[in-house]
Amino acid sequence: MSGTTPRPRPAIESMTAYTPGEQPGPGERFIKLNTNENPYPPSPRVMEAIRALDGEALRRYPNPMADGFRAVAARVHGVSPDMILAGNGSDEILAMVMRAFVGPGDVLAYPHPTYSLYPVLAEMAEVKVVEVPWGPAWSLPAQALIDTGARAIFFANPNAPSGTLVGPDQVRALADRFRGVLLVDEAYVDFAESDCLALVKSCPNVVISRTFSKGYSLAGLRFGYAVAAPSIIEAMAKVKDSYNCDALSMTAATAALEDQAHARGGWQAVREERERLAAELGRRGFAVIPSQANFLLATVPGGDAAALYAKLKAHGILIRYFAKPGLDDKVRITIGTREQNDALLAAL
Ligand SMILES: Cc1ncc(COP(=O)(O)O)c(C=O)c1O
Repeated sequence: MSGTTPRPRPAIESMTAYTPGEQPGPGERFIKLNTNENPYPPSPRVMEAIRALDGEALRRYPNPMADGFRAVAARVHGVSPDMILAGNGSDEILAMVMRAFVGPGDVLAYPHPTYSLYPVLAEMAEVKVVEVPWGPAWSLPAQALIDTGARAIFFANPNAPSGTLVGPDQVRALADRFRGVLLVDEAYVDFAESDCLALVKSCPNVVISRTFSKGYSLAGLRFGYAVAAPSIIEAMAKVKDSYNCDALSMTAATAALEDQAHARGGWQAVREERERLAAELGRRGFAVIPSQANFLLATVPGGDAAALYAKLKAHGILIRYFAKPGLDDKVRITIGTREQNDALLAAL
């Protein structure tokens, strides 16, 4: 080989990439309680819609704005289609908000600890990050977030990995006082008792992001969407890839969203198992944070969370361990089916 190996941009060379949770390889059998997937299958209508797809729909480029999906999402949420934008997973929605609203040298603020993709997106864009610790009992540190002078605040609600929820009134109070874009990442909201979607009708700076990965059992599909004022959606659409969502995922996501009855049944089952598992873990000496999501963050009795993670893995059960200050005595456990949760409890 001759010539020189090109160096990436300095910001990329120095950054650490996002670390996804472990995904077992083909043939490896684990009870997977580590990446917050839904334990129940997607709506049967999803597979029907995929099978019914004509080869012609794959030969052609897909609709660039996912208009069919937008119409259905608009109806389900009671907003206009120009307030919806589809993405390749909600991760892409977060990336679009960054690209459209936050530039090099600007500040992105978020309550910490939270979803570890936020700083990665910021580093890529040469955006400064200000991490604001959560208030007492995981309350929203609204004033401290505003005081950062951020162009954008990202805020997972329910939060990951705590599973805690902030009510819409407090989010509205923050949105009203904040001059930048407030992204409310509602990846887990289907399992929660309240959501902030109504805010988009009266708060011109709020973006809600939603996903099919959790509540609709479609993490493998890669489909998410934003709901926001039309002017925000227009700016985000300018920075997206021309055909960011494929014909297959649009069709499947639309079918899933139309089958609200199926989805809601699964959300209720997850909530019931969440409460049972939290109580059972409490009985075994874990300190469990009350969760509004499809996972629990629990302090391990004795504090050796790394050892518990390793022992459960040896028993064929994957949970999530974060080797980070403030989290390294805890494990995050995704709510499984009743049988999976029983297997976890038996192993403990
Ligand atoms: C808080 C939060 N937001 C967004 C996502 C990404 O979801 P998606 O699969 O839609 O990209 C996750 C995934 O785990 C998450 O935990």
